[in-house]
Amino acid sequence: MSYSRRGFLTAVGATGGAGALLATMGALGLAPTAEAAARTAFVPPQPSDFSLTGRAAKKVVILGAGIAGLATAYELGKAGYDCTVLEALDRVGGRNWTIRGGDKITELDGSTQTARFSDGIYMNAGPARLAQWMVTMDYCRELGVPLEVFTNSNSQSYIFNASAGMTSPVRWRTAKADVYGYISELLSTATDSGALDAKLTADDKERLLSFLRGFGSIGNKASGFAYTGNEHRGYSVDPGAGEQPGTILGPVPSLSEVLASGVGQRFSFEFGYDQAMLMFQPVGGMDAIPKAFADAIGRHKISLRSTVTRITDLADGVEVEYQDAHGRKRKVTADFCVAAMPPHILAKTPHNLGPDVQAALSMPTVTSSGKIGLEYRRRWWETDENIYGGITNTDLDLSVMWYPSYGYGTRRGLIIGYYNNGANQDAYAALPHAQREKRAVEQGMKIHGPKYRDELAASVSVSWRLQPHIEGAWVGWPSRTGGYQLLNRPAGHVHFAGDWLSYMIAWQAGALESARKTVTDLHQRVLSH
Ligand code: PHE
Repeated sequence: MSYSRRGFLTAVGATGGAGALLATMGALGLAPTAEAAARTAFVPPQPSDFSLTGRAAKKVVILGAGIAGLATAYELGKAGYDCTVLEALDRVGGRNWTIRGGDKITELDGSTQTARFSDGIYMNAGPARLAQWMVTMDYCRELGVPLEVFTNSNSQSYIFNASAGMTSPVRWRTAKADVYGYISELLSTATDSGALDAKLTADDKERLLSFLRGFGSIGNKASGFAYTGNEHRGYSVDPGAGEQPGTILGPVPSLSEVLASGVGQRFSFEFGYDQAMLMFQPVGGMDAIPKAFADAIGRHKISLRSTVTRITDLADGVEVEYQDAHGRKRKVTADFCVAAMPPHILAKTPHNLGPDVQAALSMPTVTSSGKIGLEYRRRWWETDENIYGGITNTDLDLSVMWYPSYGYGTRRGLIIGYYNNGANQDAYAALPHAQREKRAVEQGMKIHGPKYRDELAASVSVSWRLQPHIEGAWVGWPSRTGGYQLLNRPAGHVHFAGDWLSYMIAWQAGALESARKTVTDLHQRVLSH
C-alpha cells in the first residue's frame, strides 16, 4: 500500500491533531511560516481517508446554509460524506445577504419592502468587508470568487461630532493634520525642554524631533515647533496651472478646539487588526461566496424553506424533524448533525441534548445591528465632494455612512446611510421603513446638505433582529469558559458550528474557522471508530 504525501499528512493530522501534523510537515520540510501555520493546519477530509482505512463516509445533516453550514457541507463533501443541508430561508448565505432590485425584505411582523434598485446596484446588508489575513480570502481563491478592494478608510471622507459642537464635517485628512500637528508640537517642546530626559537619550531626542517634524509638519525650534497648518490639511483651492499655487485650507483651529472636537478619538479604528486597509470585497456582491459554496456542494443537497422543528439525538445517530417548503412535516435521519444555526434560534428549537446544552445555548446576548441602503440618481459624493469609497464617522444616530467601493464614475450609486448597532439601531428598527428613511436622510443632510434628500431614488433597510430565522446581528458571550466550551464539543451526535463559537464573532472568517474545526472533530471521530 502506498501513501500519497497528502494522504499521509491527513492521517497524521486526523489522529495526532494539528500539532502532530505541523511537526510532521516540519520534518518533511513542508512547514509553513508561523503566521500561516494556524490556517494551513487544516487538512480537508478526502476520499482516501476512507479507502485507506476501510471505513465508509457517513451521512450528516447540516442545519443552516449560512457560511458555517455551507463550509461544513463543502469540506465534508470533499471526502464523500453524504450531506443534507436544511435552510429555513429561501436563499443560502444567512447573514451574508446581498440585496438587488426586485428583492423582497420581510420582517418578523410581516411588513415588507421591495428593493427598487437599478441594474448593477447592490447592497451588502450583512458582511461587507474582508481583512487580508482572514481565511475568507482563501475560500474566495479556492471557489473562484473574484475580489476587489473595499475602501475602509479614506482621507477624503468625513468626521462629524455634533455633540462636540462641530457645525460642519471635517475631512479625515484635515483632522489628522491638526491632531498630528499639535501632538508633534507638544511632544517636540517637551522633548527639547528636557522634560522627557529620564526617558530619552540625547540620540533618542534627536531622532524623535526629526520624526515629529515630518509627522506633524511643524516649524523649527526657533518657531517653537509651531503647528500652523499645511498641505496635509487639504486645499480650499486646489493647486492648478500657471499662476495657481492653490490655497491651503484654513483657518487652522486652535489646539484647544482640536482637542474639544474629539476627532482624534476616531483614528484608532483603522489600526484594528480586523479593520486595517487594505480590505476586500467580492466583485458584484458578498453573496458570491455562498453562491459559489452552494454550486460546489450541489444545490440539490440544500433544502431551502425547510425549518427545523426538533433535534433528537439517538443511540446510533440523530433525527431531525422539519417543515418543508410545502408546509409538510418531514424527518431526516443521519449519523451526525452539525447545527450551524444561531444559538438563540437553536435555544428555541426543541431537542433532547440536555439542560446544560440548553443553558449554554441561552447564554449569548444578541446584538442589534442594521443598515439602510440609499440609491442616488447621481454620484454626487464623487462629482461634488471627490469621495471615492470609504466611510464617514459621526456621533449621530446613523453612526457611519459608507460610500460605494464599486461603480466609480458611473451614473447611479448606493450609499449605506446608516450602519449602527445597540440603542441607535433599536431606535430605527422600531420604525416602519419609510420613517427609517426619513430619519436617516435628516441625519445625513447634516453632513451632505439638501442633495442628500433631493437626489434619493430608492432605499431599503435591514434590521437584523427583525429578520426571520436569524433574529440578531451577532452575539456576545459573557465568558469563553463554560457554555462556550461545552458547545465547542459535540452533544451526542450533534456538533455545533458558527461564528459564535469562535474568537471572530461577526466575521465570516469566524464561521469558516469554526466549520473547519467542527469538520476536523467530526472526521477524526469517524476515523477513530
Ligand atoms: N464584522 C463586522 C464589521 O466589520 C462587525 C464588526 C465590527 C466586528 C467591528 C468587529 C469589529 O462591520
